Amino acid sequence: MSETHPLRGLDDWEQSLLDRYPAGLTPPSGQSALDQVEKPRDSFRNLGDSSPPGVREFYRLNHRYQTLEYVRGKRADYGRLNRRQMGVWEALEFLNTLVDDSDPDADFSQIEHLLQTAEAIRADGHPDWFILTGLLHDLGKILCLFGEPQWGVVGDTFPVGCRFDNRIVFHEFFADNPDSANPALQTELGIYEEGCGLDRVLLSWGHDEYLYQVVRPYLPEPALYMIRYHSFYPGHREGAYQRLMNDHDREMFAWVRAFNPYDIYSKGATRPNVTALRPYYEELIARYFPPQINF
Ligand SMILES: [Fe+2]
Ligand SMILES: [Fe+2]
Repeated sequence: MSETHPLRGLDDWEQSLLDRYPAGLTPPSGQSALDQVEKPRDSFRNLGDSSPPGVREFYRLNHRYQTLEYVRGKRADYGRLNRRQMGVWEALEFLNTLVDDSDPDADFSQIEHLLQTAEAIRADGHPDWFILTGLLHDLGKILCLFGEPQWGVVGDTFPVGCRFDNRIVFHEFFADNPDSANPALQTELGIYEEGCGLDRVLLSWGHDEYLYQVVRPYLPEPALYMIRYHSFYPGHREGAYQRLMNDHDREMFAWVRAFNPYDIYSKGATRPNVTALRPYYEELIARYFPPQINF
């Protein structure tokens, strides 16, 4: 365990989500490919029992360091999209070079998780852009390969610049966030206006917002909402921060909620055959993206 990398791998955060949300939001029984997925062995243990080591420490760092100033800085820096030019499949392979410390035999690679998500969406007959969103949604984790710490890449996201809602997991760790000592940032609305809409709200920095910046010109709006807010569990699962949302956000969050089960409950699916699936997905990517995009 190190100061910036308390998790054995980024997947440990997603495993902890299954502890918190072992069920719910799945489509009605018999109507989804997710019903065929074997439940992870540990999903019925008591909350927290099977949380991988390091998750608590991970959230301590995340809540300590995700300040308004930090988020503004990362948005401005990565928003320039000047790190690399890559094709989308090339970027998936780049993401796959991310080596987790966890047992490689027990876990799926990043591409495999993305294909499991996309294949479950495809099996349920959803539109092609929804399938493509499943394939891409975690591509922003390449932030790790650009040197960002785990706490700046994954974890539940939440607004900065206003009071930290007590429905955020490990809420107590916000006591050490410097923004907690700034009264202007601790009111209900903070720097925002009531009903201003999430587009004006700065969420904690991570793979969601980064990928949104990258793919914004290419995908339809519901796909962009799924990508930008899929880790915003305080919003899409806990119903927090309604005061910052507008009616359009609430309408679009139906898509965020439709996406979420495919992300977290497709994990036990059979190992996808990457080579066999690649031509289908290359063709799907080409329908929406030019050969190279800016990251
Ligand atoms: Fe994600
Ligand atoms: Fe995911």
